[in-house]
Amino acid sequence: MASPEAPTADKFQILPEESKKSKDADSMLLVVFVILANFIAFISLGLAIVGVAQNGSNVYNIGTSSGSDNGFSSGTWSGGFSSGTWSGGFSSGTWSGGFSSGEKIWIFQIGHYVGNTQYLDESSGTIKGYNVDVVNAVCQLANKNCALVWDLYENCWDSQVGQRARGGKGLMGSWYHACVGWANTRDRARTYLFSSSFEKSLSPAYFVKKGGSFDFFPNFSGKKVGILDGWSVDEHCLARYNDVTGFDETDVMQVTHYGSEDDIIAALSSDTIDVAFVPRTPYFDMSQMVEYTGEPGEDLCVIGGPAMMMRKDQFELRTWWDAFFEKLIATSQYNDICDNVEETHGDQPGFDKEYVCVV
Ligand SMILES: *[C@@H]1O[C@H](CO)[C@@H](O)[C@H](O)[C@H]1NC(C)=O
Repeated sequence: MASPEAPTADKFQILPEESKKSKDADSMLLVVFVILANFIAFISLGLAIVGVAQNGSNVYNIGTSSGSDNGFSSGTWSGGFSSGTWSGGFSSGTWSGGFSSGEKIWIFQIGHYVGNTQYLDESSGTIKGYNVDVVNAVCQLANKNCALVWDLYENCWDSQVGQRARGGKGLMGSWYHACVGWANTRDRARTYLFSSSFEKSLSPAYFVKKGGSFDFFPNFSGKKVGILDGWSVDEHCLARYNDVTGFDETDVMQVTHYGSEDDIIAALSSDTIDVAFVPRTPYFDMSQMVEYTGEPGEDLCVIGGPAMMMRKDQFELRTWWDAFFEKLIATSQYNDICDNVEETHGDQPGFDKEYVCVV
C-alpha cells in the first residue's frame, strides 16, 4: 500500500529534469506567462465569487438548505488575493499554495440515481439527498468551500463489458476532486483513494422478472446476466462466488451492461436477460415488474461502504474529510441528517435511516 510519502518521492525524481528546462530563456519566458495567466485567472475567479456573494451570507458550504443552487452563490470570499504563494514550483505546474486552504473550492461530482441519497429535486432543480446533506455538513464543519457538480457516473468509474473497469475520465482527468458516495471495492482501490465510509452499502442481489424462475441457480451456464453499469455489484464480483458455476465474467454473450435500473427491468421483462445481479436498490425493490430472489450471502463486492472517491494525490482532501466526518457523527446534527433521510427525503424511494446512516 502506498504511503503518503510516495507521491513526494516521485516528484523528487521529476524535479531535477524539469529544472533544466527553466535555464532556457524561452522556457523561462513561457513559464512566466503561464504563471501570469494563472494568476489573472485566479483573480477573475475571485472577483466572480465576490460578485455572487453579495447576498452576504457567510457560509462555507453548498447552499442547499437555503434553497439556492449547489454552486457558489452562498459562499463569501473573505480571503483576498495577497496571501497566495506559488509553492508548487514550475515543474508540477500546480497552484498548490493558493489562497489559504479555507478558501480553496473543492469540487465534487454527484449524479442522481433514484433514491433518497442522491436524487434530482425537480422543484428546485438541484440534487438533494442524504449524500448532499453529509457533504454540506462536513464542508461547513471543516470551513471549506465545496461545490457539487452534476455529471454522469461513468465519468467517475468506467465499466465496459469484456474489459476491466477503470477510472472515469472526469475524476482521472481532474474535472473534480472527488466523486460522492462510491463504495470502496478491490478494483476501485487499485485506482483511487477512499475516505472513510459515510453510508451503509447496498447488498448485492439477484432479481428475475415477475413470476420468472431462478431454479437454474447456481448453474449460470447458457444464462444471460444483466449488470448495472459502473456499480460495485458487477460481473467481476459475481465471478468471486465459488458456488456459482457456468459463469464467465469476460463473455460478452453472457454479460450485458445496462445504464439504468429501468433498462435492466425492461431487459428482464422482455427475456433479453435471465437474471440481474445488481445492488438491491429501493427502485428494484419497489418495481412491480421484477422479483427479488435473494442475496448471494456474504457481500464480496465491496471492501467499504459508500465514501468520497478521489485520485491518489488527494491526501489533503481525505485527511480533512475524515477528520470532520468523524466530528460530524458525534453531533446531534448528524441525527438530524439521518432523520431527514425519512423526513425531507422521505418522498423518494429509499431505505430507512438505520440502513443508510453509519451510526
Ligand atoms: C449446467 O447447465 C448446463 C446447461 O443447462 C448443463 O449442460 C450442465 O450440465 C449444468 N452443469 C451442472 C454442473 O449441473
